[in-house]
Amino acid sequence: AAIGPQLEAARAEVLADAELWAAGAAVPASKNPLDAGFHQLPDRLLAEHSAQGAKSELGRIQTTADRLAAECRSVVVLGIGGSYMGARALLEACCHPYYNEVAPATRGGRPRIYFEGNNVDNDAVSGLVELLRQRDEPWGTVVISKSGGTLETAAATRIFLRELREAAGDRLAERFVPVTGTSGKLFELSTALGCKAIYEVPDGVGGRFSVLSAVGLLPAALMGLDIVKLLEGAKAMNDHFASAPPSDNVVLQYVGVGHLLEETEECSTRILSTWGKRLEATGLWYDQLLAESLGKEERGAFPLTVVNTRDLHSRGQQHQEGVRDKLITNVIVGSQHSKPLAIGMSDNNQDQLNELADKTLPQILSAAIAGTNQAYRDDDRPTADIVLPTLDEHTIGQLLQMLMLATVVEGRLIGINPYGQPGVEAYKKNMNAILRS
Ligand code: PA5
Repeated sequence: AAIGPQLEAARAEVLADAELWAAGAAVPASKNPLDAGFHQLPDRLLAEHSAQGAKSELGRIQTTADRLAAECRSVVVLGIGGSYMGARALLEACCHPYYNEVAPATRGGRPRIYFEGNNVDNDAVSGLVELLRQRDEPWGTVVISKSGGTLETAAATRIFLRELREAAGDRLAERFVPVTGTSGKLFELSTALGCKAIYEVPDGVGGRFSVLSAVGLLPAALMGLDIVKLLEGAKAMNDHFASAPPSDNVVLQYVGVGHLLEETEECSTRILSTWGKRLEATGLWYDQLLAESLGKEERGAFPLTVVNTRDLHSRGQQHQEGVRDKLITNVIVGSQHSKPLAIGMSDNNQDQLNELADKTLPQILSAAIAGTNQAYRDDDRPTADIVLPTLDEHTIGQLLQMLMLATVVEGRLIGINPYGQPGVEAYKKNMNAILRS
């Protein structure tokens, strides 16, 4: 309650930012850059889709994805940071846990997806090139770079383009799909190649806020995900954020808890504790979002994603007994898609598990969550829970939009511009100078 009015004021600023962006108004210098376009993107894309159907941006994305899926057995998705993490998060959260193995049988046949251009790892790139050559099956590339000039992605693009020329021959322009700004090196390259589809990263949508633009939607559609459902989830979160009072608003509650604990208890480390295996990449996406948005002016909480129960056996010790600087936020998924597996009875009871024979894996996970929370509570270590009823396109759309909104609300609350990442430029400048000297 104490922080309610401040949260309301920050929300009003975020809503005003979105309106300012939508109106194309001049941005006050103090707020530059104002990459607030992510906020209304779901509403805008859905409205356009309802009005224009297959001719809308969503319709075109779906058509390209279906064409590539029909033509290619594998697609290499090149991109880094905000041009990579979101698509990977969607794959891990919503697709089959062994997606690449089952892709041909997924929703009418989808291509395997490989992420590259997100590092400069010679073994990884060589390994993938080798695999594509050995398989000798049709493949394609989606290159995602808003600036069109990021070296890691650009270098990988050269290498895979060279391979694709060999593999695709006169189908090169169909199998090379760029997602980029309306100008820049990648745009020019794609135009020169005569590419059939050049998707835009909309102006005013920053990289780490772009998962619900073509940056995340094209790969999602390639995987066979329902991109309308994804955006509907995000739109539902927008509606809730704009209208629910602070006491009942998941975005404001989330920001309020994190902010108060940081201010009053010095909890400057935010652990996103995911349970099960599907949300690790979502957590990594969020690590980037929070770190790059608020880690400025020697401030900003330190984000760290863990995957439990796995990491209870590694980081768990420190979280239970280490420095008291942590807020642990659990992300709990209510029900899983597959039928619960029970431990089962066995004649070989040397492991002494027969007394737990009727317990299922979801029941064990629930007990681990409750037991861990209780252990933290017994030692006065703060926790919070985000509960998703299930994990699908709608709920992941809600979660991603919730975390993006929370990040910009917190930025406005603490007076840090969440957009832009000036600190990332330093290494790029030095790396380029070293390479060109
Ligand atoms: O959040 C951001 O803006 C960054 O992480 C970018 O997404 C990342 O640097 C990649 O940039 P680009 O899409 O221009 O290649």
